[in-house]
Amino acid sequence: MARFPLLAAALGLAALLVTGRASADDLVARGAYLATAADCGACHTAPGGAPFAGGLPLATPLGKIIATNITPSKDHGIGNYTLAQFTRALREGVRGDGARLYPAMPYTAYSGLSDDDVRALYAYFTRAVKPVERSPAATALPFPFNIRASMIGWNLLFLNGKRFQPSPHASTSWNRGAYLAQTLAHCSTCHTPRNLLMAEESDHPLAGGSLGAWYAPNITPDRTAGIGAWSDAELARYLSTGANDHAQAGGPMREAIDKSLRHLDAADIAALVTYIRSVPPSSAGAPAMDRAPSPITSDIDVLSDDRDDGAQLCADNCASCHQASGLGTRGLPSLVGNAAFRLPSADNVASAILAGIWPATGQAMPAFAHALTDRQVADLTSFLFRQFGGSRVTITAARVAALRSGGGGSWLPAVAQTAIAAGCAVTAAGIALLAWRRRRRIPGQAAESGRERGR
Ligand code: HEC
Ligand code: HEC
Ligand code: HEC
Repeated sequence: MARFPLLAAALGLAALLVTGRASADDLVARGAYLATAADCGACHTAPGGAPFAGGLPLATPLGKIIATNITPSKDHGIGNYTLAQFTRALREGVRGDGARLYPAMPYTAYSGLSDDDVRALYAYFTRAVKPVERSPAATALPFPFNIRASMIGWNLLFLNGKRFQPSPHASTSWNRGAYLAQTLAHCSTCHTPRNLLMAEESDHPLAGGSLGAWYAPNITPDRTAGIGAWSDAELARYLSTGANDHAQAGGPMREAIDKSLRHLDAADIAALVTYIRSVPPSSAGAPAMDRAPSPITSDIDVLSDDRDDGAQLCADNCASCHQASGLGTRGLPSLVGNAAFRLPSADNVASAILAGIWPATGQAMPAFAHALTDRQVADLTSFLFRQFGGSRVTITAARVAALRSGGGGSWLPAVAQTAIAAGCAVTAAGIALLAWRRRRRIPGQAAESGRERGR
């Protein structure tokens, strides 16, 4: 080779270009995987719309916050974002032009992302996503929440702004699982209970909490209240398919699995399992059982006129799939002893009956919202808890009516709502505090506040 220095140099350059291209492709591929794990598309892709072109309105107590176009269009998307600007948007909730984003964009969870992962996401969004030359409608919240700077106060309280710190004492798999759960897949935003300011109770991780129409169960290793009785393989199967012999995911969890978790590789699911197994067991939300769950036997059927309304509704609407006994059959789960009836709240079962379950793969369960009245759903649900769960949990027709109007929606808006409700509470408190301080300072303070305003 020494006699052909030019050839050697050319070969070297070619090799460098090939490896450079390969590693750039790797970066983009990794970014695509991370975007799935973080479920960016669930908010930024409208149903039936182009990928990441925005337009999905996230309902909040104040009005709709519309997810923006994050394709690399220079006029309508993030085509002009530098890596630094993209990083600030993801980790600090600051838009390219310096304005604050609303916490409907989950930057509190993404603030833990590593530099490498943000770089991979940037490579994917700027190089592999197709630009869409269209802006969705703009978000228009009422005063004072239209002032984006009002989010600065909220950020001071709730944005910890720290990168994820791997524990030197834990295994690689545990660290990977903790990173996935805490940043990209943000399990705690739903499964960790919240305090009065809507902040997560960090001393009760994953102990269960209500999301409105759905209850995110206790998933700590407690054997009774949590999922300690599930084997590692059963938990892995639930996370990667949405169903196992204990439980079948509906509502927000079904969406998280279909759009994000089921696309994760086996090593990442195993890492999540390792981490979920290690959180402290919590006895919160233990089942209210006072007898053993039991299948429906033929003697219930012979009670003609005075037979339980719930039993009749079950025979008429549910037995075709779950069998008259409730024990299920191939691909159609058993309801007897099902995890759904171990929960402290009947919301999930009633919401599943109203909205149905529509998994990306496998059999669906139809929606009964139009077929059954609120009273019928309540009677049926309360009967099922008693019969198949041995549980004292009941639900009222009024609660079913509330689930019907507020329920069923997408899980990500549910997360957004929580964040926004918290944002609003804090902003309102901040404004009240300012008004109070201003009133106290009125005599002789005009000059000073004038100076302040001039700054
Ligand atoms: C829970 C819903 C949700 C998820 C998940 C989400 N976003 Fe967002 N994002 C939003 C909303 C809503 C906005 C606009 C907020 C506003 O206008 O204040 C936004 C804004 C942005 C912006 C600012 C764009 C601009 O100029 O307006 C960027 C960049 C962004 N998101 C990137 C991402 C990426 C990358 C991911 C995945 C890693 C992601 N988002 C996941 C809801 C979401
Ligand atoms: C947007 C909210 C949300 C997110 C994010 C979420 N979950 Fe869930 N999860 C739920 C809800 C709601 C249910 C109940 C579903 C049902 O009853 O059909 C659930 C159910 C479960 C169950 C079954 C528990 C039982 O007793 O039946 C497990 C296990 C679980 N989730 C684990 C996780 C893990 C691990 C993550 C993060 C990788 C996660 N979830 C992220 C809302 C969420
Ligand atoms: C057409 C078949 C079909 C009918 C009819 C049906 N189901 Fe289901 N049901 C399913 C399937 C399939 C699943 C599991 C979906 C999955 O794997 O995620 C399911 C799951 C469930 C679950 C567990 C889901 C959860 O969120 O915990 C409950 C509870 C349930 N069904 C109750 C009922 C009740 C009550 C009725 C009658 C009103 C009914 N089903 C009617 C097919 C059906």
